[in-house]
Amino acid sequence: MDYQALYEQKKMSADDVAARVENGWLIGMDAAIAQTPAIMEAVCRRAEKNALSGVQVQFLLDTYPFPFLSDSSYKGKITGVPWFASSGARAALAAGLADYIPNYYRDCPRHIRAGYDYDAFCISVSPMDRHGYFSLGSCGSYASAMIDKAKRIFVEVNENTPRAVCGLQLHISQIDGLVENTCELPTLPAPKLDEVSITIGNLIAEQIQDGSCIQLGIGAIPDAVGMALKTKHDLGIHTEMFTSSMVDLIDCGAVNNSKKQIHRGKTVTTFAFGSKAINDFINDNPSIEILPVDYVNNPEVICRNDNMISINAALEVDLFGQVCAESIGTKIMSGSGGQVDYVRGACQSRGGKSFIAFSSTAKGGTISKIKPILTPGAVVTTSKNDVDYIVTEYGLAHLRGEPLSSRVKQLISIAHPDFRDELMFEARKRSILI
Ligand code: COA
Repeated sequence: MDYQALYEQKKMSADDVAARVENGWLIGMDAAIAQTPAIMEAVCRRAEKNALSGVQVQFLLDTYPFPFLSDSSYKGKITGVPWFASSGARAALAAGLADYIPNYYRDCPRHIRAGYDYDAFCISVSPMDRHGYFSLGSCGSYASAMIDKAKRIFVEVNENTPRAVCGLQLHISQIDGLVENTCELPTLPAPKLDEVSITIGNLIAEQIQDGSCIQLGIGAIPDAVGMALKTKHDLGIHTEMFTSSMVDLIDCGAVNNSKKQIHRGKTVTTFAFGSKAINDFINDNPSIEILPVDYVNNPEVICRNDNMISINAALEVDLFGQVCAESIGTKIMSGSGGQVDYVRGACQSRGGKSFIAFSSTAKGGTISKIKPILTPGAVVTTSKNDVDYIVTEYGLAHLRGEPLSSRVKQLISIAHPDFRDELMFEARKRSILI
């Protein structure tokens, strides 16, 4: 088979792809840098000319400034429907410009297979190899499920997309059209290492023994914890999102995956997003496996590594230990992602622990993140029954299996001192401190 000839036959412009889109189409995209900027811009250009209506676009963690997430003139033409919101989708949800699918990330492939028929799936890929395969780069996630369900597959070939040798591939024979678009891939700014995050990182690092297997969640604090683990030895990685600090941990020798019970010698993730160094690391590297999320985030898989440590962030916690990590009151900020999966997986692992970590206050010290009750409308991400450790810059609270009164005392002891009296007063008022 002459794959290069097939490649030339299937090559088209982004506008050619957009011209095929019809009213009412459901288009699927995957996580972060797997999204397709040129194709979506072309689809938006068609919508701007009032040539499209009722198009829905699903994605997870938006990384490009898709105009339908910020411009109300797209209302009724293109609607974004995130599985997990990043900054653009967050603003769109607040403005009533986007819809949202609540989910545990590990269930996305199941929801996709059971509930949706995609007119097209669009994904960024690395250049074709001599066997006719395109690597889906740093994307394991739910791409396989969308590929199975989509009527058409369009790819954007980007020379900057890393070639993941232990990751998903698409064959030229599977795709309906390809667009060449070598653009810079989006990155996340390096985590801010302030005094609070360094303190939290060190507190958690003290709890982690050499040989543990780690997951670091989304946000500044988990990344800062990663930085504090550089003095450890023989760590392993089994994680949802492969982050910048993980590359540093591998480079400095703290991570070698030598003590893992499953995937020994390999870093396992379902997608990657952060610095450019991440993409350079993944490129042609057989030591990292990028696998579908229904496997990677399954608590029964996560717990198979001993001493599994999960570290995730939150926005607020009440005195029961209910964790809100995805909304501020009714304002949706992100999604559940894999937080619950990793809390459960870590707690089921032999020697495992789960940490939810955050600075004790928000908004310049004016708001305590430990609250008597959650802000009305706040979404419970991790339940009081699943929560294990809560960490702020003032210490650790171990809640799992603890009576309510012990939870209340411990949580107040790690709240910012300015809010402790008020928390004590509210706890007594509710008779939850005996
Ligand atoms: N009340 C009001 N505002 C608050 C707040 C609170 N209790 N807590 C945080 N904020 C504000 C911050 O000030 C910040 O505002 P800004 O954008 O104007 O600066 C904003 O909310 C984001 O907070 P921050 O703490 O900086 O968020 P982050 O980028 O570190 O991410 C989560 C934290 C919780 C949003 C993120 O970890 C998440 O989405 N988690 C859910 C999924 C998950 O844990 N997945 C893990 C598996 S990979």
